[in-house]
Amino acid sequence: MQVLHGPNLNLLGLRDPAIYGKTTLAEIDAELTRRAALRGAIVRSAQTNIEGELVTLIQRAQGWAHAIVINPAGYTHTSVAIRDALDAVPVPAVEVHLSNLHARETFRHGSLTAAKCIGQICGFGAQSYYLALDAALDHVEATTRDGIPRKTQGRRS
Ligand code: DQA
Repeated sequence: MQVLHGPNLNLLGLRDPAIYGKTTLAEIDAELTRRAALRGAIVRSAQTNIEGELVTLIQRAQGWAHAIVINPAGYTHTSVAIRDALDAVPVPAVEVHLSNLHARETFRHGSLTAAKCIGQICGFGAQSYYLALDAALDHVEATTRDGIPRKTQGRRS
């Protein structure tokens, strides 16, 4: 599982705790790793403030990850490049936000990236990430058997 955190999420815990909560990014990543391990999955997490690095990490996930959990943060509302990467790479992604985008400023109501994800979870603070992890793992389990995507099962190669 590739977990991707976008810009400013390195400041979690300090940044606007009334909106984003007091849990730090390190605490969220540790909890994701713990929960994934209980389900037999491994998590690799990355945070970057740079749009192109998120694009590269999405592209690279194709080599190894069964799914992506991504909080594109501010790029959610602006990034055609991240949307295109999610579209181009056949790794299912779940979009996650700590805050409830729909209860905030109108410019946050739209997401360019969510349509290229299997779904979006927002508004539950750090819990949004844990729900997203479960949703992504449930999706992988429902669509693969023995780690082989169902689409290719039964083919002899
Ligand atoms: C966010 C919501 C975005 O609108 C904002 O720019 C962020 C964080 C969230 O997790 O609630 O940086 O993605």
